[in-house]
Amino acid sequence: MNFELTEEQLAVQAAAREFAQTELLPGVIDRDEEQKFPKEQVKKMGELGFMGMMVDPKYNGGGMDTVSYVLAMEEISKIDASASVCMSVNNSLVCWGIEKYGTEEQKQKYLTKLATGEIIGAFCLSEPEAGSDATSQSTTAEDKGDYYLLNGTKNWITNGSTASVYIVIAQTDRSKGHRGINALIVEKGMDGFVVGKKENKLGIRGSDTHSLMFTDVKVPKANRIGEDGFGFKFAMSTLNGGRIGIAAQALGIASGAYELALTYSKQRKAFGVEIAKHQAIQFKLAEMATQIEAARLLIMKAAYLKDTKQDFGMAGAMAKLYASKVAMDVTVEAVQIHGGYGFVKEYHVERLMRDAKITQIYEGTSEIQKIVISRELLK
Ligand code: CAA
Ligand code: FAD
Repeated sequence: MNFELTEEQLAVQAAAREFAQTELLPGVIDRDEEQKFPKEQVKKMGELGFMGMMVDPKYNGGGMDTVSYVLAMEEISKIDASASVCMSVNNSLVCWGIEKYGTEEQKQKYLTKLATGEIIGAFCLSEPEAGSDATSQSTTAEDKGDYYLLNGTKNWITNGSTASVYIVIAQTDRSKGHRGINALIVEKGMDGFVVGKKENKLGIRGSDTHSLMFTDVKVPKANRIGEDGFGFKFAMSTLNGGRIGIAAQALGIASGAYELALTYSKQRKAFGVEIAKHQAIQFKLAEMATQIEAARLLIMKAAYLKDTKQDFGMAGAMAKLYASKVAMDVTVEAVQIHGGYGFVKEYHVERLMRDAKITQIYEGTSEIQKIVISRELLK
């Protein structure tokens, strides 16, 4: 067993850290306050190769492994989880999904641009009445010969207004259950496709989360990903990898808050000494560091399994389940260590605490991760 990172992985980590510090940190508090999407910053992330990290270089990607991707996600999430969710969706749901299951034509047309960040992608599974119970969705893709007629509403879509390309999961034949569902690539600007209202959120407020409405949108058959009826399996398979990215986001939020708390504890004095000299604070830091390390190991194991082409579904679910809880626990303690200063915006930890919560909800709630894990254990 080797816990060392390669030189290339260390270089990716350093580049992401540098980018986060110099480009994301300035303005992050205002973007959160104003719910402003980090447009310029995401453009730079594309230029630096962070938007299609694992894509084959022949489609303009970085050709990197999942471990490198996780390292970059952690560094970017330490500073700005709104930027990192955009990155995560583009890399691990949209690029990965099209590269793994798309046609050569789809790869040339969409992936080559998604991988550079020239265009951004969105992944549209959830609906107002169907989130965890993803097969019960009511959006329909009626088979009309050489095209599908798409009707319905998707909810909570990350990159909702920023994206140009949307992977939409819809029912074609309800009688076939999950085998009657298709995944279609929908382009912004197609007739009948409207981007709905932006959500006003607790956390990741810079991320643009929207509902999407489809009314008689004609989607060419050439835009279907995989065989007829493969859409649900496509979504599940893609989410297996996505969950590693969100676990890394949770890790970044936790480690960002921990680093701030550690520094603060060595500066702030109470009862004549730095608060880090009080054992109660030391024990908090010890607990936080241990939880973070355990989350990191679970995430790295899932990434390693994916990179070595082994089953990684359960490992990814475990990593997300655990890391998202760590993100909650650690950020709450980071606020506590900061005392009253932790409760105000300037010290960043209150934002990290608010951002942490979403990692227990999207890409499958913690309860859903337990379903995924227990089904695997019992099968
Ligand atoms: N990997 C591969 N295949 C899977 C799978 C997985 N993790 N989970 C299920 N499948 C397959 C099953 O093998 C089955 O196929 P077969 O019948 O051929 O064996 C098929 O999919 C249907 O599976 P189930 O009968 O288990 O389906 P279910 O209706 O009981 O639901 C579920 C299973 C795990 C609860 C699933 O609905 C689920 O994951 N729900 C959560 C949805 C989710 O994660 N949404 C995230 C939206 S994207 C997002 O959130 C992005 C963002 O925020 C940034
Ligand atoms: P529900 O499914 O209604 O769940 C409500 C509660 O019941 C939860 O606690 C859940 O865990 C629990 N529950 C449900 N079923 C069970 C069960 N069988 N056993 C035990 N407990 C259960 N979706 C996309 O498709 N694309 C995106 O880009 C996207 N981005 C998002 C961004 C944000 C900011 C948010 C808030 C959501 C986003 N989502 C996205 C949607 C997200 O994936 C769903 O919110 C999530 O899957 C939960 O679905 P739900 O909200 O309908 O909750």
